Amino acid sequence: ESGKLWGGRFVGAVDPIMEKFNASIAYDRHLWEVDVQGSKAYSRGLEKAGLLTKAEMDQILHGLDKVAEEWAQGTFKLNSNDEDIHTANERRLKELIGATAGKLHTGRSRNDQVVTDLRLWMRQTCSTLSGLLWELIRTMVDRAEAHAVALTRDSERLLEVRKRINVLPLGSGAIAGNPLGVDRELLRAELNFGAITLNSMDATSERDFVAEFLFWASLCMTHLSRMAEDLILYCTKEFSFVQLSDAYSTGSSLMPQKKNPDSLELIRSKAGRVFGRCAGLLMTLKGLPSTYNKDLQEDKEAVFEVSDTMSAVLQVATGVISTLQIHQENMGQALSPDMLATDLAYYLVRKGMPFRQAHEASGKAVFMAETKGVALNQLSLQELQTISPLFSGDVICVWDYGHSVEQYGALGGTARSSVDWQIRQVRALLQAQ
Ligand code: ARG
Repeated sequence: ESGKLWGGRFVGAVDPIMEKFNASIAYDRHLWEVDVQGSKAYSRGLEKAGLLTKAEMDQILHGLDKVAEEWAQGTFKLNSNDEDIHTANERRLKELIGATAGKLHTGRSRNDQVVTDLRLWMRQTCSTLSGLLWELIRTMVDRAEAHAVALTRDSERLLEVRKRINVLPLGSGAIAGNPLGVDRELLRAELNFGAITLNSMDATSERDFVAEFLFWASLCMTHLSRMAEDLILYCTKEFSFVQLSDAYSTGSSLMPQKKNPDSLELIRSKAGRVFGRCAGLLMTLKGLPSTYNKDLQEDKEAVFEVSDTMSAVLQVATGVISTLQIHQENMGQALSPDMLATDLAYYLVRKGMPFRQAHEASGKAVFMAETKGVALNQLSLQELQTISPLFSGDVICVWDYGHSVEQYGALGGTARSSVDWQIRQVRALLQAQ
């Protein structure tokens, strides 16, 4: 016996380099728990179909519990023939319970097994990441950051992806389905999936749910990367709008004065890694003929790496935001009257001037101020009146930044009441979690 699950028709040995190239155990060992879970459900399906006696099923179930226990305690010993997690667990089961172990794989293929495992694993990961994402959203909304709104869409999107992950392929066999009467509805209920896959050839070969997860991560990283970019700029000496906590900064080995926003720069850079995984998987998928191809083994490293990255990024981002010092005074000092040129146009609109004309008039005022070398709000009423007779003494109200912000009262705008409304909306979503 070769120790392989597929040794029967082979005479020659596999080249050692090929052996290593083919093996996925180095990373798919992460699936040990869900692999056991799937196998336990499958053995129940076999018993129900009359393919295992009750005693055999119990033997297998106990054996699988022992396998899981060894993994959990770190005592599971891999051997050099363990090509992947499915091979390793079945090999160990056989060592523990003997020949009955050989009945577990009846009508099953690693093709439906692996994709079932991956879906089980990702279902769990979605819940974990969703929790971390909401933690970040909560932190952001406590500090009233506009970026939190984008993240609520990421949360909604993750829930959608999870729905499509939560479909059971087990019972699809290698390609053609199950010929031995295994009840897939029983398997679905055992493993608590929302539905079963429709077609066995599709089920064993599609990785839409992986692509969607990677895209979800890519878009979430886009939002976090943009936020990181904003904050990196705002914590430069020149802006000094915010100050990063020491806990999320590092120093320079050469320049003693430096405080580097490494947490934010790494968040920004991890986006590139995640996009790469997403693009990489799509490229792997696009050339494949139908049904299972070994190319699909590549899905797992992408999922594991991206899950780890997302988990780390979300936690670091939460830490950065919760400890960020905000220097409101410096933001106030950065305001300049020319930012109010639009308000000047709105002033004229409120006096009855068509917006297009008001825009032109305000532009002329900007030009006049520039030419005279004064700030926009330093133009005299007489000077403004040379541009339009609609200017009068009350134009002075335009030069108030607070007033400017408050005028955007429509929902979604900058007025205090509107911002409070936005915060309430996000808090309501948080409450619903
Ligand atoms: N380790 C493989 C994977 O991750 C399991 C499926 C093997 N199937 C096959 N036809 N070689 O995809």
